[in-house]
Amino acid sequence: MKRPVLLAAAFSLVAMSASAVALEDPIKTRQTLMDANGAAAGLGGGIMKGEIPFNPVAAASVLQTMRAVAVSFGDYFPEGSEMGDTKADPKIWTDSANWQAALAKFQQDTEAALATLPKEVGSYTLDQFKGAFGQVAQNCRNCHQNFRISN
Ligand code: HEC
Repeated sequence: MKRPVLLAAAFSLVAMSASAVALEDPIKTRQTLMDANGAAAGLGGGIMKGEIPFNPVAAASVLQTMRAVAVSFGDYFPEGSEMGDTKADPKIWTDSANWQAALAKFQQDTEAALATLPKEVGSYTLDQFKGAFGQVAQNCRNCHQNFRISN
């Protein structure tokens, strides 16, 4: 029963980010991007564990979503947005060199992971996907440890 829930979550998030999320609210926007990352990770993790049947096109959406989040996320941390309903760590603004490095690593790893897969999206195997996903998954924990406040 887990699979339909995860897929439904992934699709509703895609629909949500396409509709008018309050774009003038950088906190909401960056959290919505991360929600899409979470949905992608749920789908990718389910495929890795064999809970969701492997489908190379669906699997590609996992990495493509993460790549798009990696590239856009950093645009939503203007001065002042450390205040409010956010879990962003103040270090983002005070230790910007390490923050930029964490963003750059996520961008590089997602790009490198996509580059390991054949160009034709439907043509790769579960093992190839596992290798690619494994290259990016660690970014989540590393960055959250440094730059997200845990409750
Ligand atoms: C470069 C740093 C960075 C990376 C890499 C990163 N995150 Fe995040 N993530 C954050 C920050 C910062 C927040 C808190 C944002 C806020 O509350 O303003 C966050 C918040 C979240 C949230 C909560 C969103 C919400 O609605 O409040 C989820 C879910 C999440 N991340 C999932 C992931 C997953 C899954 C990955 C890996 C695929 C990932 N993140 C990679 C920095 C990162």
